[in-house]
Amino acid sequence: MRLWKISYTSIAALPEETANADALVICALAEQYNALHGITGVLTLHRGRFAQVLEGPETALRALMARIIADVRHHTVKMVADGPIFKRRYADWSMAFSDPKAFVSDQLDDVLEQTAAVTRALGTTWH
Ligand SMILES: Cc1cc2nc3c(=O)[nH]c(=O)nc-3n(C[C@H](O)[C@H](O)[C@H](O)COP(=O)(O)O)c2cc1C
Repeated sequence: MRLWKISYTSIAALPEETANADALVICALAEQYNALHGITGVLTLHRGRFAQVLEGPETALRALMARIIADVRHHTVKMVADGPIFKRRYADWSMAFSDPKAFVSDQLDDVLEQTAAVTRALGTTWH
């Protein structure tokens, strides 16, 4: 069972004035399903767009993505990442709702960690 990560962005189809509250409800309801299927991750909402990171067994993620893509509360789902990972970033969260700054900071941490791992593997740095 491979540990996998899928992330995507989409355009929210939610009334602007309730969008944040609606997204919180999506997260709260997601927690039970995700916990049951070994899925962790984070959801954020920024300028009318969702971004979500999902981590877990590949088959469970694909099944969940099929449900998410069919959800009328958003559209224009664009995949950002779809591949294997060694460890979870959101191990403690069935589905966290994060502010956009924390979300971006986490993704940057991932990039920096991957860069450091590649540098260690190659034993090189560029100046
Ligand atoms: C942006 C977005 C993210 C979602 N993330 C999850 C999630 O992580 N887990 C989950 O169970 N449902 C999530 N949902 C809800 C699912 O799309 C779907 O409504 C839910 O799984 C219930 O599916 P059902 O109506 O087929 O029973 C999300 C919905 C949206 C719009």
